[in-house]
Amino acid sequence: MANVAVVYWSGTGNTEAMADLVAQGANDAGGKATVIAAEDFDAGQLGDFDAFAFGCPAMGDEDLEQTTFEPMYDEVESRLQGQKVALFGSYDWNEGEWMDKWGQRAANAGLNVVGTAIAKDYPDDDASEECRRLGALLAE
Ligand SMILES: Cc1cc2nc3c(=O)[nH]c(=O)nc-3n(C[C@H](O)[C@H](O)[C@H](O)COP(=O)(O)O)c2cc1C
Repeated sequence: MANVAVVYWSGTGNTEAMADLVAQGANDAGGKATVIAAEDFDAGQLGDFDAFAFGCPAMGDEDLEQTTFEPMYDEVESRLQGQKVALFGSYDWNEGEWMDKWGQRAANAGLNVVGTAIAKDYPDDDASEECRRLGALLAE
């Protein structure tokens, strides 16, 4: 059984809803998901998990949230080489460019990015299904 960490930051709840869906997908696929707010996660917990989903909405100008999420992510990314990782988050104004940048960044850092999921605002049925699918991939 894979222990899956679902680590997220969310200002208005959209990415938080996605985190719960990713966790549901992982649990339904036989894994054990733990949903953790970004401020409660650090590199010391990496060893407790087999796979990781990170969630952050588009903030700034197609960036990650810089006060809480990105400092945590900067710390853990370099220690996740070769590990199964999925990325997800919500956006509104543009077309998801922040996720293209983030996925590229993670791949360049040597992470095994098994998939990404984005939702315009609150996840609709299609985005919800994508989130569950990500969770299932991490639980394999
Ligand atoms: C300060 C700020 C910056 C944002 N920057 C972007 C952006 O660059 N591109 C975009 O598509 N949406 C942007 N948004 C919209 C959010 O990504 C969107 O509202 C998202 O659903 C918020 O997710 P959350 O509910 O998990 O916080 C921004 C929102 C805020 C408040």
